Amino acid sequence: MKRNLITAALPYANGPIHIGHIAGCYLPADIYVRHLRKKGEEVLFVCGTDEHGVAITMRAKKEGITPHQVVDKYYEQISSSFEKFGIRFDHFSRTSRQIHHETAQGFFKTLYNKGLFEEIETDQYFDEEANQFLADRYIVGTCPVCGNDHAYGDQCEKCGSALSPTDLKNPKSALSGSKPILRKATNWFLPMDKISETPEFKEYSKRVEHWRGTVRGQFKSWLAEGLQPRAMTRDLDWGIPVPVDGADGKVLYVWFDAPIGYISATKEYFREKGKEEEWKKWWQDEESRLVHFIGKDNIVFHTIIFPMMLMEHGSYILPAEVPANEFLNLEGQKLSTSRNWAVWLHEYLEDFPGRNDELRYTLTSIAPESKDSDFTWKDYQLKVNSELVAILGNFVNRVMVLCSKYFEGTVPTGFAHGTYPELSAKAEEMKQRVMGLGANAGALMDAFKFREAQAEWMNIAREGNRFLQETEPWKLWKTDPKAVEGILHESLNLCAYLAVSGSAFLPETSAKILEQLNLEEYDLVSNAWNQLEDGANLGKPFLLFTQIEDKEIEQQTEKLKKTIEASQQNDRIPEPQKETIQYDDFAKMDIRVGTILEAVKVPKADKLLQLTVDTGLDKRTIVSGIAEHFSPEEIVGKQVSVLVNLAPRKLRGIESQGMILMAESEGRLMFVKPEAIAENGSGIS
Ligand code: 2FM
Ligand code: ZN
Repeated sequence: MKRNLITAALPYANGPIHIGHIAGCYLPADIYVRHLRKKGEEVLFVCGTDEHGVAITMRAKKEGITPHQVVDKYYEQISSSFEKFGIRFDHFSRTSRQIHHETAQGFFKTLYNKGLFEEIETDQYFDEEANQFLADRYIVGTCPVCGNDHAYGDQCEKCGSALSPTDLKNPKSALSGSKPILRKATNWFLPMDKISETPEFKEYSKRVEHWRGTVRGQFKSWLAEGLQPRAMTRDLDWGIPVPVDGADGKVLYVWFDAPIGYISATKEYFREKGKEEEWKKWWQDEESRLVHFIGKDNIVFHTIIFPMMLMEHGSYILPAEVPANEFLNLEGQKLSTSRNWAVWLHEYLEDFPGRNDELRYTLTSIAPESKDSDFTWKDYQLKVNSELVAILGNFVNRVMVLCSKYFEGTVPTGFAHGTYPELSAKAEEMKQRVMGLGANAGALMDAFKFREAQAEWMNIAREGNRFLQETEPWKLWKTDPKAVEGILHESLNLCAYLAVSGSAFLPETSAKILEQLNLEEYDLVSNAWNQLEDGANLGKPFLLFTQIEDKEIEQQTEKLKKTIEASQQNDRIPEPQKETIQYDDFAKMDIRVGTILEAVKVPKADKLLQLTVDTGLDKRTIVSGIAEHFSPEEIVGKQVSVLVNLAPRKLRGIESQGMILMAESEGRLMFVKPEAIAENGSGIS
């Protein structure tokens, strides 16, 4: 029997779980685990919250609470949502627990004692006002690539460039707003360049050849770019203290400690069972198979850094598979915690009680396995109503209701041998097709293709409907009740097969089907047919799914609109204040109220509108870069504020005589204007 150690990325305890996390990582992991268990394989499924790193301290700052309070709050919320949603971990731990601190420190110490780390002194930004070193995320400045003046020290979110803090122009500390200074600091680096040249790493690289294209692609491109030593410690005060002399004020890099969280979760699980040493069997025995479920932003850590740590430590197994998913978008836009653009799991559970499988089904049907995909509420409604209700629910219900009506809720007898050759042949063909679909679904799950697997499985329900449609038992009942017995007997077999073969995708639905069949899952062999006893009592028929109404969908889309509006007000990080000016500098500007009289698009310039504006002084032409935000028709007649004494300049050959003042919020532009209609030419000062 195979032993499978399955991990799902430890979510940061800095916010609730949303559907992107579920689709990207936890749902496929849960399906896979249930699938393996059904096949009778030995499985251990571990996870927990990732409670270190800047993600946590930034959230604490934003919520005005301590990092401890942040992780306690979100650990509770995250673990309870997973539980309610039916993601069935064997163990869900936390990286703040002592067992994890000890394990991570022990791991570091082993590598340190082996002389693996390189001690390197680098220049780090230091905030003198806050008296601390600044994590990359705490440094904000102008992106050298695209000029965005809100780029972070590790990345520009506008153009996506990966950055180092020293790449930023005009760096500012996000803690105090002051200009940080560079200070020397020594940290311990993992010599990734050297490890990548070892025979062991080369041997390990071969297995990556068989992994998903996106995972392999990222792995190869990191290697091709040439790996650099990477710091495994940080000058921060939130995290696991570095367990060596002279490391005061330093903690382990969060990406060093987090994956070790998988090991400590395993240890903790067995310790609680009183089997202190058992974890080793899972982590250090070549018979175990380690599979990491993650999102694509975690690929380098799970395919390069963590395996390097494991192989350099020695005696650990290395990942056998890393089925990373791409991203899920929401209504065409990237999910974003800070912008609140998300469907939060805990809210879904409240808004759609008893509808876990509806979300599981939809998310698996759009699983971003090979490319990013999009969740929309309309699509959710469509999938529930036209697939779960109309195909699966309808089939099971028809069979159950007919059995209740014709056979008083008992299992009718199957076709006796040699009777009804045509109907028997139809039933046999149906059975063959169904078992073929079930086998395909199983093989696809083995290959981590859950989206296709679920589609194959759903085809089983389609087969059921087709069988009823072709045999029409309701028409035969009056004249040939024996035939009806056989037809419904086979239909019940199909229901049982559906329930067992689909329990990894839709566990609650599967249990509901079995309840109606009056069976327990463990009574059934997963890929067998004809497991119902003639004459046995069935349960009462009930509907597996109900329609999602338009108004429920409207409520959700409304909610999205509202949350994004609210987040625009709450979450904006204001731009740092510009340098001080004197009153005279301001007084030089002549700003007047004006009215837009005409607006036309400037040919061949996507962004520009040519406006004719009544400034009270004259009617003049102003070229304004607002064409992507407003159509010409909607702005004619609007009052605006105009900087009238700006030196004229030519834009696309048109002389622009002034500038319209705009406010910008979260990428949206708005006119700045007097709160009531004012006379054109009125001064603004
Ligand atoms: O990206 C994240 O949310 C990380 N907290 C994932 C950590 S996975 C593992 F290494 F623990
Ligand atoms: Zn940029």
